[in-house]
Amino acid sequence: MLPVFTARGITKVYHMGEVDVHALRGIDLELHESEFLVLLGPSGSGKSTLLNILGGLDVPTSGTVTYRGQNLTTADERALTMYRRRHVGFVFQFYNLIPSLTARENVALVTDIVDTPMAPEEALRLVNLTDRLDHFPSQLSGGEQQRVAIARAVAKRPDVLLCDEPTGALDIATGVLVLEAIAQVNRELGTTTAVITHNAAVAGMADRVVSLSDGHIVSERRNEHKVMASELSW
Ligand SMILES: Nc1ncnc2c1ncn2[C@@H]1O[C@H](COP(=O)(O)OP(=O)(O)OP(=O)(O)O)[C@@H](O)[C@H]1O
Ligand SMILES: [Mg+2]
Repeated sequence: MLPVFTARGITKVYHMGEVDVHALRGIDLELHESEFLVLLGPSGSGKSTLLNILGGLDVPTSGTVTYRGQNLTTADERALTMYRRRHVGFVFQFYNLIPSLTARENVALVTDIVDTPMAPEEALRLVNLTDRLDHFPSQLSGGEQQRVAIARAVAKRPDVLLCDEPTGALDIATGVLVLEAIAQVNRELGTTTAVITHNAAVAGMADRVVSLSDGHIVSERRNEHKVMASELSW
């Protein structure tokens, strides 16, 4: 079966005045259908750069990335915008909810612009927020706000869900609920998922764990038995 993503020889160099920053130094990676991938690595190792390239938010300096056979590296801005809109859900450390809209309305904003969305209520059920539909962001905890952000990302039924430190601003107990919501989406919808985290314990939830260091993949392993977020030992 064709991988969802195939990245070959990805490099990314940022030119900062006189200085070249080598964020990625030759990444070969595949992501498979319905896989749950965790990306680990120290600060500055290139995790966000790699995720942004997979999500069509950035383009590599060299190398190729294909999404289901479509070459993202030669795509123009318009094609990348369509790719992101149709196929990719993003979750970031900060939730970026609209303060004047309820949870349901924040999710509905997105479902208004795609072809076959989920009902906002259904997306919020997936992240276990059925009892918070009409709460405003200021009336929700950080973890609940992040779960609204996840509901918003998945309500358009994206093919892939890319999460950059989704629990970065949360304590452990709250982070577990957020990770459980992401895992539930992966299980119920089969959404191919990649999660960046600083927390090596999270690796236990993954089908596969990839570690980056200084722009290289330094290790890759597959979990025989993945565990629920609530069973991770921190
Ligand atoms: N827009 C940019 N312009 C210049 N340099 C950048 C830019 N984005 C990232 N970098 C540099 O590229 C390298 C990789 O950054 P990246 O954000 O991918 O790391 P990261 O692994 O996500 O780190 P963190 O865990 O701190 O988020 C770093 O040295 C960073 O300073
Ligand atoms: Mg980062």
